[in-house]
Parts: sequence; C-alpha cells; structure tokens
Amino acid sequence: MQTILKELPSDLDQERLPKHVAVIMDGNGRWAKRRGIPRIMGHRRGVDTLKQLLRCCDDWGIQALTAYAFSTENWGRPIEEVEFLMTLFERVLIRELKEMMEENVRIQFVGNLTALPQSLQNQIERAMTQTQNNTGIQFTVATNYGGREEILQACRTIATQVQHGQLQPEDIDEALFSRHLYTANIGDPDLLIRTSGEMRLSNFLLWQMAYAEFYITDAFWPDFDREAFHQALIAYQKRERRFGKV
Ligand code: FPP
Repeated sequence: MQTILKELPSDLDQERLPKHVAVIMDGNGRWAKRRGIPRIMGHRRGVDTLKQLLRCCDDWGIQALTAYAFSTENWGRPIEEVEFLMTLFERVLIRELKEMMEENVRIQFVGNLTALPQSLQNQIERAMTQTQNNTGIQFTVATNYGGREEILQACRTIATQVQHGQLQPEDIDEALFSRHLYTANIGDPDLLIRTSGEMRLSNFLLWQMAYAEFYITDAFWPDFDREAFHQALIAYQKRERRFGKV
C-alpha cells in the first residue's frame, strides 16, 4: 500500500503554492477501455481520484480546488452515460456530505444548474447550504458549465442594469464583470491541470484563466495520484509568473 504524505513534500515551497487549482479530469473512458471494462467504471474511479486530490490540496495548504465535472457540451454523450453521470454526482453528494462537514470543506456547484435533474439539484442545494459556513478548502464543481455561456449571462445581467439606469457603461470594469460570473466568490485559478494529454481549454473558465499556468500530463485522470500532483506543483514552482510584465 502507498504511504500517504500528509505534509507538504520538502521540495515544494509553501510560500509559492498556487492558491487555487483547477482541473480538467480527462481520460476516464480511456482508462477503462485500456482495462477492458465499461467507461462508467472510469468515472467511478475518477470520483475517488478527485476525493484524494481534494484531501491532498487541503493537507498541503491549497485554499481552493475547482473541478470540471460536466460541460454544456457533454449532453451530446450517449444518454446512458449522461444518466449514469447525473446519478453518480447525486450519489457522491449524498455519500460524501458527512465527511465534507467533518473535514470543513465548503462545496459549491457552478454552471447552469436549473437544467440538471431535480433530484440532483436538491442534493446540490442541500450540500451547498450545509457547508456554506465551513472555513476549510473551497471546493467548486463545474456542472453543466460552459465558459461562453457564463460570460453571456454576465453580459445580460450587466446590460439590464445599464438599461434600467442602475449602472453607467463606463462603470463596467474587470472587477465588476468578475462579480457577475459564477465564480464571484473565489479568485482566478493560478494553475490549471489537464490530464490525458489534451491541449485544450474546452470552454472551461475562459475569463478566469487569463493568467493561469497550464500543466498538461499524459496520465489518465483515474491515475492522477498525489505523486502526479506533486510533480505538477514542482513544474508550477519552476515557472516565472510575469502577468504580462517584464
Ligand atoms: C472525462 O473523461 C470525465 C468526465 C466527463 C466526468 C468527470 C466526473 C467525475 C470524475 C465525477 C465528479 C463528481 C462529483 C460529484 C464531484 P472522459 O469520459 O472524457 O474520458 P475519455 O476522454 O477517455 O473518453
């Protein structure tokens, strides 16, 4: 059995850790295919990986983790897989809520949640309400999320305020715009990790990723363990973040 390092590995600098890590959890299907088992087994294993990563972020002092669980484009998957994922999200929420409370996790879901099955919406509401005063890691799950759609809904809200004379066009700046995004309560990600080698953003946090460092690994999501995360953080700490300056 693998020993779990609860402490931050000594080759990482506590002062220069990302505050907010975002993950695109890709490769569950391929992980399963390689083992000759159904794709859904890959998603099941993917949940375990996400849980381990959340715990690891918490252990090592990272304040926020945001995971892309279901995009607005994922409805195009076979109906059985979509239904499996919706049921999986719901079951996981029911099963993990007690532990999230014990571990002081604050969970929120972002995306167009009204299009999700009502029973899932109920569990999301319950988990968000119960954990809202927790003070530990902020865990955000993007579900039925699309970056362009998020930007459009912010534009509509702002345009309506201008139309009603509550806001002047010149008042619209980056800070105001950010406050109208789903992620208003969390800072922008410092580090984006994408597994299974794809080099795309796939409509994830388009506005918020403006200055994120990207780390792409060939590992399939279910194989992305603590050591893989450790390697991602080493790579991150080697980067020089200039935010457009020299
Ligand atoms: C991408 O792999 C993964 C998904 C679309 C689903 C990820 C969701 C989870 C791991 C569950 C998270 C759950 C909660 C409640 C927080 P893929 O199917 O695109 O794999 P492939 O690219 O190999 O086909």
